[in-house]
Amino acid sequence: MKVKTEDGVESMQAVWMEGEKVKMIDQRFLPHELRYFTAKDYVEIKKAIREMMVRGAPAIGVTAAYGMAQAMVQDVEIERAAETIKSARPTAHDLFYAVDHMMGKDEPVKAAEEYAESVIQKCRSIGENGAELIENGNSVLTHCNAGALATVDYGTALAPMRVAFRHGKDIFVYADETRPRLQGARLTAWELFNEDIPHSVIVDNAAGHYMQRGEVDMVIVGTDRIVANGDIANKIGTYEKALVARENDIPFYVAAPVTTFDESTERGVEIPIEERDDEEVRSINEEVICPDGSDVRNPAFDVTPAEFISGYITEKGVFTTSEVKDMF
Ligand code: MRU
Repeated sequence: MKVKTEDGVESMQAVWMEGEKVKMIDQRFLPHELRYFTAKDYVEIKKAIREMMVRGAPAIGVTAAYGMAQAMVQDVEIERAAETIKSARPTAHDLFYAVDHMMGKDEPVKAAEEYAESVIQKCRSIGENGAELIENGNSVLTHCNAGALATVDYGTALAPMRVAFRHGKDIFVYADETRPRLQGARLTAWELFNEDIPHSVIVDNAAGHYMQRGEVDMVIVGTDRIVANGDIANKIGTYEKALVARENDIPFYVAAPVTTFDESTERGVEIPIEERDDEEVRSINEEVICPDGSDVRNPAFDVTPAEFISGYITEKGVFTTSEVKDMF
């Protein structure tokens, strides 16, 4: 991804490996500060994922693959490392896929690098395939951050917008701010700003307003998991966006690599939904915003049923729900 720095425009990845160390952009400090975190062992890999220094399903998967490679090189008990890394967050399928993929690899660092490279190439293809859906002059709405930060490079939902823009199409992006962690306002907007892609950050509740007014031509979101019946889990609020899109006859696309496909789960209701710390909702910038006695709930994801999804943008092409079911 392109990042504007004091020294000019630099090309960067969200996570990478240097020797035995796993390095990443610490996304908690964006957009104000470009800080890095170095994970020295699998315990710190879990911490980085759990505390969302790195987040987004494919990037979590790549971090987990690097963490497994690191654990193998450090000769720690691999089952323990695998279980620890898998326990970081429950919803993103890529996390479990990547850890299992690394088991028994003879050249672990090479295998992890190959895994990361394959994710980048898949996202690039998602970008090429999805860009064909975006016409000159289109406005696209997205939720959360499914960009390069969430995938190492290119992104899933953001990849088609990146590619369409690089191909010279005149596009506009609505970025939902995405309460409570503000991945849209902090991260998607930062990526769009760095690439000079025209955009507006909107509060989550404004998405329906712009859709109703005919100012959104399509919605593209990422996903943490696609299950066998085509249902998907994505950032909390995605389901509502899909409902409003259908009400207004706006196509609703989900972009993901096949590493996000979970063959072992039949229906969306079976997907484990992460409940995060209520502090994320209770306070803004450490200032408490609701009465101390009020209960707070904080589900990180919701499920969008397959019937709301116009197409699945993957590295293999764009598919309908019945085609996706056949792929399973
Ligand atoms: O809680 P997060 O920030 O990890 O949630 C991320 C999302 O919901 C993304 O849309 C999803 O992981 C796809 S990332 C390409």
